[in-house]
Amino acid sequence: MCGIVGYVGEQPALDVVLSGLRRLEYRGYDSAGVAVQTPEGGLAVAKKAGKLANLEKMLAEQPLPEGTVGIGHTRWATHGGPTDANAHPHVGGAGKVAVVHNGIIENFARLRVDLAERGHLLTSETDTEVVAHLLAEATDAQLAAGSGTLDLAEAMRGVCRKLDGAFTLVATHADAPGVVVAARRNSPLVVGRGEGENFLASDVAAFIEHTREAIELGQDQVVELTREGVTVTDFHGNPGEYREYHVDWDASAAEKGGYDYFMLKEIAEQPKAVADTLLGRIDANGSLTLDELRIDHSVLREIDKVVIVACGTAFHAGLIAKYAIEHWTRIPCEVEVASEFRYRDPILDQQTLVIAISQSGETMDTLMALRHAREQGAKVLAICNTNGSTIPRESDAVLYTHAGPEVAVASTKAFLTQLVACYLVALYLGQVRGTKWGDEIFEVIRQLADAPKQVEQVLTTMEPVRELARSLADAKSVLFLGRHVGYPVALEGALKLKELAYMHAEGFAAGELKHGPIALIEEGLPVVVVVPSPRGRSVLHDKIVSNIQEIRARGARTLVIAEEGDDAVVPYADHLVRIPQTPTLLQPLVATVPLQVFACELATAKGHEVDQPRNLAKSVTVE
Ligand code: G6P
Repeated sequence: MCGIVGYVGEQPALDVVLSGLRRLEYRGYDSAGVAVQTPEGGLAVAKKAGKLANLEKMLAEQPLPEGTVGIGHTRWATHGGPTDANAHPHVGGAGKVAVVHNGIIENFARLRVDLAERGHLLTSETDTEVVAHLLAEATDAQLAAGSGTLDLAEAMRGVCRKLDGAFTLVATHADAPGVVVAARRNSPLVVGRGEGENFLASDVAAFIEHTREAIELGQDQVVELTREGVTVTDFHGNPGEYREYHVDWDASAAEKGGYDYFMLKEIAEQPKAVADTLLGRIDANGSLTLDELRIDHSVLREIDKVVIVACGTAFHAGLIAKYAIEHWTRIPCEVEVASEFRYRDPILDQQTLVIAISQSGETMDTLMALRHAREQGAKVLAICNTNGSTIPRESDAVLYTHAGPEVAVASTKAFLTQLVACYLVALYLGQVRGTKWGDEIFEVIRQLADAPKQVEQVLTTMEPVRELARSLADAKSVLFLGRHVGYPVALEGALKLKELAYMHAEGFAAGELKHGPIALIEEGLPVVVVVPSPRGRSVLHDKIVSNIQEIRARGARTLVIAEEGDDAVVPYADHLVRIPQTPTLLQPLVATVPLQVFACELATAKGHEVDQPRNLAKSVTVE
C-alpha cells in the first residue's frame, strides 16, 4: 500500500524514480509525486492526482531540473482524498525538505495542532505533512545550534521517536546534498546496493533493473543513503542490524513479457510457479524435506491445534488447507480472516501452530494476527512469496512459495502456490507425526507433481470460457457454488469477479443455498458450479448434481466445472468446462484456473483495467 522510491547516484534521479514507481504502482494508484535535489541546491517537487501517467504527462509538459538524488511516491489514500494537494511528497521548511510516506501516523492530529500552535501552516489533509514540518523544525534547530552541517538522519531519528503508528518515511533536504534518509516501523522498506549508487523502495521490484543486491532492514530503523554507502541505525542512533541478500529473479520477471496485462501473464505462469514451489522439497527417498521449516519435530508432534490466518485470496487458500490438514493429520484446524483474529481473544498456547499465509508478507492484518499468536506462546509458520518481507521474518518458520513477483492486484499464481505450500505442510505434519504412511505421502506428492501439466492443460482449453465471459458482461450478478474444497474455490471465483469486474458475485456452499440464497435465483441468472470428482467421495458429487438441478429448475443458467469423464452433469450444464481428473483434495489447483480466466476476461470486456482495479491495492499495509 503506497509505493516509495529513493535514489542517490549518478543517473538522472527522475528517470530512476519514475521507473521504480511504475513497478510499484500495484501498491496504490490514487496519486503520484516526486522530489529531486536540483543542481542549484534546491528541491523541485511535482505531484498529481490519479495514476502515474498523469504525473508523467505533467512532467513532459513542465520538466523538472535534472538531479541525481530523488524520492517518489505512488499513493493509496488513507488520510485525505486523492487530490493534488494530498499527493506526496509533502514539504516543510519553505520547501527545503520533502517527505513521502507509507502507513498511518496515528498521533498526527495532536502533532498537527502543536505544529499549528508553533506557527506552521499545513496545507493538506494528510497525516504525512506533519513529518515534513517536524523534520524542518529539527534541521532548523541543528543549523541554529551552529553545527554547520545538517544531519538529516539524526533529525529523522528524533522525529520518529515522536510518532505512533506504522510508517515508512523517505526524506530528502536541500541542505543535505547527496543524501536521502528513510525510516521504518511496521511498514515495508528495502535497500538496493549499487556501484556508486544506492536505492530505497517498498519492494525490490523498484530497483531490480539496477541491482539485485538488497538489504532487509529491521523494525524501528533509520537508514542514510549516499552514493558511497548505506548507514543503518535504530531510532536512537545505535548501529542497526540488517541482512543482505541477493534477489533471485531479474527485471524481466517483473515485466509484462508481451502480455496485455500482468494478470494474463501471471495466470499463464502458473504451471511453472507450481512446479517451482514443489522443487527441492522431496528427497531421494521420496520423503518431504522442508528444511526451511525450522520448527523442531518434537514441537510439531505436540501440536494439538492448527489455526490459519490470512486475508483475501490467501484466506481462501487457508480454507482449502483446512480440509487437507484435518484429513491427513487429524489435527483440528481453524481458519480465520486475520483482521478478526486478535480481537476475539482466540484460545492459543504452546501447542497451537498458527499458519500465516501471505503473498506479500506485509499485510498488516496478518502481521498483527501473528504477533498476537506469538505473544500467546503459539508457534507461527509463514507461507509467503516475498523474500525479506516482515511476516516471514517475524515468524518461527517459513515456507516460501516460488511464484516469482506477482504484480497484478488480483492474486492468481500466488494462490496456486499457496495451495501447494499448504498441501506440503499438511503432508509434512502427517509425516512427522506418523499419521500418514510414507507410501501414502509419496502418492500424493506424485499427484502434486502432475499439477503443473494439468494446469497447463486447463490453460490451453480456455477459449470457450473467455467467450462465455464476454457474453456475460451485462449480467447483474453471478453466483458460485461448491462443496468441500470446491466451496472455497467458489468463494475465490466470486472474489475475483468482484475485484475485477465490480459485479455482484457471491460464493456459497452448495448445500447452504436452499437455506436462503436460493431466493436470489431468477430466470437466466448465471451460476457457476464447481463439481467434485465422482471418483472420490461420490456422495459429494451426487449431492451437488442434485443442487444443480434445484437451481436449474428455478431458471438459473448453469456454468458447470467438472472433471473429464463426469457424464452425470452433462444434462444439467448449460455450459460445461472440463478440468483434468484429480484427487478431490487437489482439485482446487485446476478448478480455480477457469474462474481466474473468466473474471479477467469479463472485466476486460467491461473495459476495466484488470491489473489495477479501483479502490484496491496489492500490499495492504494498514489495518
Ligand atoms: C489484498 C489484495 C488481495 C490479497 C490480499 C492478501 O487485499 O488485493 O489480492 O489476496 O491483500 O494479501 P497477501 O499479500 O497477504 O497475500
